[in-house]
Amino acid sequence: MNKIWIGTNWKMTKSTEEGLTYIENLIPISEQLSSRIELFVIPSFTSLIPLQDSLAQTRIHLGAQNMHWENEGAYTGEISPKMLQEIGIDIVELGHSERRQYYNENDQDINKKVHAALNSGFSPLVCIGENIEQKNFAISRETLAMQLKTCLKGISKDQAEKVLVAYEPVWAIGEKGVPADPAYVSYIHHFIREVLEEMFEESSFNIPLLFGGSVNQSNFLDYIHSPHVNGLFIGRAAWTTQSFENILTVLNEQITHNYL
Ligand code: 13P
Repeated sequence: MNKIWIGTNWKMTKSTEEGLTYIENLIPISEQLSSRIELFVIPSFTSLIPLQDSLAQTRIHLGAQNMHWENEGAYTGEISPKMLQEIGIDIVELGHSERRQYYNENDQDINKKVHAALNSGFSPLVCIGENIEQKNFAISRETLAMQLKTCLKGISKDQAEKVLVAYEPVWAIGEKGVPADPAYVSYIHHFIREVLEEMFEESSFNIPLLFGGSVNQSNFLDYIHSPHVNGLFIGRAAWTTQSFENILTVLNEQITHNYL
């Protein structure tokens, strides 16, 4: 795959003012990057409108961290596809492990959201990953296959070409996360590719597979050089423009020198 997808999930960390400052710094950096890099930022809902204004003339894609599957209804506290369409976002992140863990989201809910996202013109960024118990019981592959087959059920081959998948092992995410071995990541990505190929045949080749979970300045090159990894989904290590810039600059150099 020619494109390299690099993005950051801000989770619940930045005020709109902080987000705008970050974006002001990121825009000039983004202008220096190879066209092979697809860059995206996923802020909190409250920052989407002002950030969309700042990003309108840029190559940085904007994403939302979640979405309901209905366009309207009695769902207090939820945000609908229609509301996000009004803003004009590109990506909607679905099924992050923190949403599964703290808000009981399950694969069937995520499947409804994936359909809603595609019908609304967004690229769903579907997050999957096994937890530590599943890994220890050696059922990572079974868990991931179940997640993929349920979350992406009923998606046509054409629609599949708009989907992004992020493999984020739950045990690797966040402050207490243990960084995954790049060889393990590559092995799992290969497996995910096989499941996607079984589901969507040749259309699956256009689905980027991103890796996320404790990606940082010292390990990102190992992951991006691992076979079957098409991008990185970064939390903490991209929460300052400086650290994100360091990663982006090195990636760009690697592309310029044909190392990637
Ligand atoms: P960390 O990079 O902070 O582990 O978070 C990754 C993540 O959850 C991306 O969605």
